[in-house]
Amino acid sequence: MLLMRMNRTMNPQMNKYISLINDELKQIVPSSFLGTNLEESMQYSLEAGGKRIRPLLTLLTLQTLNKDIHYGMQTALALEMIHTYSLIHDDLPSMDDDDYRRGQLTNHKVFGEWKAILAGDALLTKAFQLISNDHLLATEVRIQIIKRLSEASGHMGMVGGQVLDMESENKEIDLETLQLIHKTKTGALLKFAVMAAVDIAQPNNHIAQSLERFSEHLGLMFQIKDDLLDVYGDEDKLGKSVGSDVSNHKSTYVSLLGKKGAEEKLNDEAVAAKSILNEIERDYDVSNLSEIVDLFANRDH
Ligand code: IPE
Ligand code: IPE
Ligand code: MG
Ligand code: MG
Ligand code: MG
Repeated sequence: MLLMRMNRTMNPQMNKYISLINDELKQIVPSSFLGTNLEESMQYSLEAGGKRIRPLLTLLTLQTLNKDIHYGMQTALALEMIHTYSLIHDDLPSMDDDDYRRGQLTNHKVFGEWKAILAGDALLTKAFQLISNDHLLATEVRIQIIKRLSEASGHMGMVGGQVLDMESENKEIDLETLQLIHKTKTGALLKFAVMAAVDIAQPNNHIAQSLERFSEHLGLMFQIKDDLLDVYGDEDKLGKSVGSDVSNHKSTYVSLLGKKGAEEKLNDEAVAAKSILNEIERDYDVSNLSEIVDLFANRDH
């Protein structure tokens, strides 16, 4: 399966940030420590061609707030590790039961189920180790980010959302419940991507609140588009199997609102996100964040 990276649609600065992220990710997991292939399994998923949209968003938010991006690098990497673990677990037979991810066989298809579970666990815990060791950040900032990341990824965030998603299989749910699923399973980590940069750069309250609302619209957009791509996307471009939601009888924006309804909702969220950026524009150059909104609306993978 051929995986086309998102990089082609990004501007040179974004591509530069993504290369930095990829270079750092290559060095995060040391080679075998206990003489097992656990690390190989972690690296297999981490180094596959993910779009790196979450760490990119952290760096772009820092850049927007005129803060050196290196202050956010360890946090950005930690976020990508947690996201990667969530994908390994999401693909397991007991969850979405998918065979392809990031242009290659899913982790459990190569390393077996128990090792895929443990590779996910190891990526999750190592993420917090990274932030704890980040000497570029003041201790209070590290603690604030660890708190934010534990909330975003745990039972009130991604994990809770995944439970709601699984429990909603084979059921009719209303739009409000679906929105809650999207807000938690996907939105929480995207919100973290932006708000961790806010914790680091510490803009005034007004800007912080605007960016928080912005990140919520962005998170919803991302999953609505993911739902659309699961039905109308191209497997080769996506690097993952399409049709997973229909075969698992999931409730999605497409199943509830149809293609047109989902596209309208996606557009509404994009308009809302851009109007918040207009408020910030007086103080900061928001062009990269604005490009991200367009990218989220128009991406094909
Ligand atoms: C897929 O995320 C899972 C969702 C939360 C929608 P991405 O589309 O960002 O996947 P990668 O990181 O590029 O593989
Ligand atoms: C997954 O949502 C969100 C996660 C927390 C991993 P999906 O199940 O729709 O993600 P894909 O489509 O498999 O990437
Ligand atoms: Mg899922
Ligand atoms: Mg899935
Ligand atoms: Mg999906």
